[in-house]
Amino acid sequence: MLWVGTSWKMNGLIAFARDYASRLTSQPADRWNGVQPFVIPSSTAMAAVHDELGDGSAVMLGAQNAHWEESGAWTGELSVPQVADAGALIVELGHSERREYFGETDRTVNLKVKAVMRHGLRPLVCVGEPEASLQAGTSSDYISRQVEAALDGIPDTTAVLLAYEPIWAIGEAGREPGPDGIAGALTTLATRFGRSVEAILYGGSVNAGNATEILALPGVDGLFVGRAAWNVEGYMEILDVAARCAAGPRM
Ligand code: PGA
Repeated sequence: MLWVGTSWKMNGLIAFARDYASRLTSQPADRWNGVQPFVIPSSTAMAAVHDELGDGSAVMLGAQNAHWEESGAWTGELSVPQVADAGALIVELGHSERREYFGETDRTVNLKVKAVMRHGLRPLVCVGEPEASLQAGTSSDYISRQVEAALDGIPDTTAVLLAYEPIWAIGEAGREPGPDGIAGALTTLATRFGRSVEAILYGGSVNAGNATEILALPGVDGLFVGRAAWNVEGYMEILDVAARCAAGPRM
């Protein structure tokens, strides 16, 4: 199974969300055989997306963040029970934008992973090294430490999704990774953690043009997409590519 999802980050009003989700659900049931699609809207649009997808949808819904406490005086935060109530089955944690701009640390990611798992949801743990680590040749050490910290003290991590998202490849300022730039780090993750987690995804400047090449890398079980999936046609194109890869021989 290839996991192929998108986070909309801070984009999309409710009308957009409804249209996007209804376009996905109106596709033939077998269009993306072998692929597990998931969509992570902004929190204001989650309930609308859930409503359009319906219960038991083939497309899973996710949240972009959740707090580690169950409830309480945490202004501006959402708890895991709240995002679950809005329909989330996946919770994205530790994205580099959260780490850089909102003070997310390895420790808070670990607390959040535990909270998400306590409630039976899937954490999608993002890790990725800055440009300096890439240049220094320390990418694998950097991301291995992030994964170890995120999963510290969790005996069973089989529900975890890991996303390798090198900071230098993400967003407008990022550059498309050649396979050589990411293959080593992905092999390290697969070797060290591949057997103990559900899947290892790659994210950072993924598009329909490079998806096949990235999915062909050893240890890659899926894609996590930003900009190229912010319109539903773009997302469906990438899902089509993934479905073709899923139907072919896997390494
Ligand atoms: P991008 O974002 O696909 O727009 O580079 C990826 C991400 O941040 O997950």
